[in-house]
Amino acid sequence: MINAKYQTVLDKFRKYVMPTYAPRLLIEKGRGAWVWDCDRRRYLDFASGISVCNLGHCHPAVTAAIQKQAEILMHVSNLYLTENQPELAEKLIRHCFDGVVFFANSGAESNEGMIKFARKWGSEKGKSGIITMENSFHGRTLATLAATGRSKYRQGFAPDMPGFKQVPFNDLEALRKAIDDTTAAVMLEPVQGEGGICPAEPGYLQAVRKLCDEKGILLLFDEVQCGMGRTGTFFAFQGYGVEPDAVSLAKALGNGFPIGAFIVRRQWADTLLVGTHASTFGGTPLACAAARAVIEVIDSENILENCSRMGAYLMDKLEKIAEKYDFIVQVRGRGLMLGVVCDRPSGDLLPRLQKNGLIALTAGETVLRLMPPLNVTRAEADRAVRILDKTFSEFAEQLKLSEGDSHE
Ligand SMILES: Cc1ncc(COP(=O)(O)O)c(C=O)c1O
Repeated sequence: MINAKYQTVLDKFRKYVMPTYAPRLLIEKGRGAWVWDCDRRRYLDFASGISVCNLGHCHPAVTAAIQKQAEILMHVSNLYLTENQPELAEKLIRHCFDGVVFFANSGAESNEGMIKFARKWGSEKGKSGIITMENSFHGRTLATLAATGRSKYRQGFAPDMPGFKQVPFNDLEALRKAIDDTTAAVMLEPVQGEGGICPAEPGYLQAVRKLCDEKGILLLFDEVQCGMGRTGTFFAFQGYGVEPDAVSLAKALGNGFPIGAFIVRRQWADTLLVGTHASTFGGTPLACAAARAVIEVIDSENILENCSRMGAYLMDKLEKIAEKYDFIVQVRGRGLMLGVVCDRPSGDLLPRLQKNGLIALTAGETVLRLMPPLNVTRAEADRAVRILDKTFSEFAEQLKLSEGDSHE
């Protein structure tokens, strides 16, 4: 029976909210790796709000920091100095390369800023072009849509913002051929998220770095999804031993409180000066309090170590399960950014997993995406594996039945 509260909220949503989303469930509470719906049913959340709640839902230290700051000062604009913003910037730089930070509110806005940085850097050199990767995802604003390497997201929004072209990911020669005198930068996700959990191949990022240096152009990494510890290092690029000229962040930086940022190397610190870029809500005392707490927890609770350990553990378990099912082609990923690649659309699996108590995501058309909180426990991981195995088995059974039907 449909819960009356669920129906009321859904009706109101359908009437008053622009229909750009088709949400499932009515979620009322979250704690750690768990969420509860309006029927008080609990689910293991292996989506983490699309890699946002990387420390789990309502981490007490982040909640306390937000509560404390909300009583003191929430916002005054960037016309005034506030303490949390440079404190957070210093913390980020300590985990990154030496440089300077611009604060924004979302992934797309952080990428927009990073793109503007590259264009400004190239403006006196006659360089404005940005080369991005096929299958990439960089956001839904017009510039980040033009950067995104999946044309379906651009349909209906012509004309495209000029100055972007895509090449196949992990293909150095295609990139080399695409670079010309007008190219300002190469922009990529070290591990593609929305595109299907596709990690850069070993050696590729090093080669891209070398190529950008030879050509005298910038290398920009979008770590909106793969950053903030998701792959087992604070930034994904650290696991590859390659440093970009600029990197963008958002999603997990506030563990659910909206905040984004992009960081540029110190040698480019004077590219965007007073009056060239701004954001009313960028780096408010409240958002920065949340993000300061997030980084403190990452450091003090061995989050990166747990991510690497549990990532390897889950990968091993998933690979073993995958052997049992013909519809699974491969398991791939880094750290706790994991993809189960299927030979058919993966979307059919989501409601089945949900019914069995696990929330997950798709990526691309055929990949089941698993992104648990980085402090997920062994017991939670084991439970998720049991649910996955059970669901895959039910799914395989269903496939067998429908294939049988079609042969009759
Ligand atoms: C790699 C990447 N870049 C940018 C974005 C856009 O972020 P937002 O939705 O916060 O604008 C996303 C969102 O999924 C992303 O995965």
